[in-house]
Amino acid sequence: MQKLLIKGKKKLSGIIPISGSKNATLPILAASIFSQKVKIENVPFVKDVFTMIELLNFIGLRIKINKKNNSLQIINKKNVLNSIAPYKLVKTMRAGVLVLGPLLARNKKAKVSLPGGCAIGTRPVDLHLFVLKKLGAKIKIKNGYIHASAKKGLRGCKIKFPSVSVGATENAILAASQASGKTILLNCAIEPEVKDLISFLKKIGCRIISKGRKIEIFGKFKPVEATYKVMFDRIEAGTYLIASAIAGSNISLLNIDHKIIRTELKILKLMGVKIKTFKNKINILESKKIKKIKITTSPYPGFPTDLQAQIMVLMTKAEGVSIIKENIFENRFMHVPELKRMGAKIEIKNNTAYIQGPTNLSGAEVMATDLRASVSLVIAGLIADNRTLINRIYHLDRGYENLEKKLKNCKSNIKRI
Ligand code: EPZ
Repeated sequence: MQKLLIKGKKKLSGIIPISGSKNATLPILAASIFSQKVKIENVPFVKDVFTMIELLNFIGLRIKINKKNNSLQIINKKNVLNSIAPYKLVKTMRAGVLVLGPLLARNKKAKVSLPGGCAIGTRPVDLHLFVLKKLGAKIKIKNGYIHASAKKGLRGCKIKFPSVSVGATENAILAASQASGKTILLNCAIEPEVKDLISFLKKIGCRIISKGRKIEIFGKFKPVEATYKVMFDRIEAGTYLIASAIAGSNISLLNIDHKIIRTELKILKLMGVKIKTFKNKINILESKKIKKIKITTSPYPGFPTDLQAQIMVLMTKAEGVSIIKENIFENRFMHVPELKRMGAKIEIKNNTAYIQGPTNLSGAEVMATDLRASVSLVIAGLIADNRTLINRIYHLDRGYENLEKKLKNCKSNIKRI
């Protein structure tokens, strides 16, 4: 099992290029089930993307990977595709459930493994099934699989989500894009990755009108050939913004649209982080004093739950007690015990963490538990004294492309062993 060894207290300076968005790439790959031929650029070559590629290969699509320029060429000459997404592929990458909508819409049936939970929560899919039933699908859960069918095809209608869900919104848009007639979705997720999926579907010929949390999809579109560039990864960008704020002296992040991460930038500036934004780069300068803050995670445009673990490490440097309320997932504080072993003073009451600062962190052997918790341990290792050894870094590899290389290029002493 590989580990990451970090020698802390090195001041970082240099340039970090931000990769394409994992969470935009995954639904866009699912949407490519509709296409005969499509090219996708700015794809992050991370584990979850390769798992989705493996799943699409299993379904019957042919995917050429171009490692030189991070692009994928997807060819799909077959009329009949395999409508099964097996447990062995979906269990490691829950977003595999996003092929349910497209397979059902295209083949009138689908058998997709229930994704199961993960470290951060039970991750139910009831909202995904709710919307597919509204579109006319028959759904049965048997032997750990979702069996969905729509003999006469899906029929568009008006649907209001009882609560906001990124994945369920994406599955709904995908299914509705090949339903008969128009579908109106209300109370949708408006994460930038959902918008990127909509832009992709429009590029391959689907007519979609989105306004606030309302999305209108005109079904039965005829897919056309296209090339599409995936948006930047705003969570990777936020992660390196926080790492630079805590361990940097002068860092530039490239390939960023700062309008998309307004909330994160506002919060970091309120904490005293020195940030300068340009057209498609952001400079972070050495921040002397970090101020405490109270944050609540919420759906976009609120503060993202995917940056909760990372900002908690910055809070250990703030004067006084910072507070972070995790409103999205029920078990997303798995990084706290590990940070406490490095000297952080954090108390948890229900879904709220109280972080006492400033504290000095000391290097330790720690264990990664999920994707974003593992990167919070990397950030802690950058500022801790002595060495930090992080176990189970396969979690990291799911969502961060070339992490060691990007940090090494900024003078960090980090290596995979
Ligand atoms: C997406 O997960 C992201 N994953 C997550 O990023 C992210 O944390 C999450 O959105 C919230 O922003 C991808 O895009 C691949 P949700 P998703 O449906 O779609 C509950 C990462 O680190 N819910 O918006 O699964 C759910 O339990 C990952 O990259 C239901 O109750 O998130 C949660 O409490 C982690 N029923 C809340 O809604 C459902 O059917 C929000 O989940 C679906 C969700």
